[in-house]
Amino acid sequence: MFKIAISKGRIFKETLPLLAKADIFPLDDPERSRKLILDTNHTEIKLVIIRASDVPTYVEYGAAEMGVAGKDVLLEQGGEGIYEPLDLKIARCRLMVAGPPTPPLRRRLRIATKYVNTTQRYYLGKGEQVEIIKLYGSMELAPLVGLADRIVDVVDTGNTLRANGLLPLEHIADISSRIIVNKAAMKMRSPLIKKLLQQLKIAVEQMA
Ligand code: ATP
Ligand code: PRP
Repeated sequence: MFKIAISKGRIFKETLPLLAKADIFPLDDPERSRKLILDTNHTEIKLVIIRASDVPTYVEYGAAEMGVAGKDVLLEQGGEGIYEPLDLKIARCRLMVAGPPTPPLRRRLRIATKYVNTTQRYYLGKGEQVEIIKLYGSMELAPLVGLADRIVDVVDTGNTLRANGLLPLEHIADISSRIIVNKAAMKMRSPLIKKLLQQLKIAVEQMA
């Protein structure tokens, strides 16, 4: 069996046309089915449906040979023990510092984010001491209720920031989704992985 780990929602939807060009078609829709392992038109290839932030873990431990993960997730988790051979150029956004137009409440900035490690590295690089508060979602709320001075989150259209009276302030990284591959699988399943990577690379170029 060859398992491709993928999260439902945005990444699944945007990966689907690329997989189709590589002649991989899931036989179920994860938005409708409760199944976590989806069959495809190739009996040996399955799609494993998991949370976006769990994808690198499954691939690192070899529970899935391949996966699709956001660069934001890979930056945050270190991406150790896995290869990152292809940028799919989907689910594109920017990791940013954002905040209200008013001056910060505290001298030592308090930052709310789910990207704790990346935020720590970013401010360390600037030589600035900050306090980081870990949140799991709806980061935009934190400055509105005085929990934090700034947030670090992904921004695409900027609609969520605007709707909450926040401004994008500093650019940390450009984000897109990457194919990741388990290191042992890269050797053991080399012919299939090479073929898939080549087909996906062509699909990405055609979509550009
Ligand atoms: P989890 O379910 O693990 O908390 P999540 O809610 O961030 O993850 P998604 O919202 O499906 O999962 O996002 C998956 C990936 O898509 C993110 O890791 C990021 O790379 C990218 N992404 C997130 N928000 C946007 C956006 N607004 N526009 C484009 N890409 C985005
Ligand atoms: C992401 C992110 C921002 C928003 C940015 O949330 O956490 O809130 O997108 O996109 P925008 O700049 O186009 O408004 P998402 O839509 O994935 O919701 P969720 O993470 O809370 O599920």
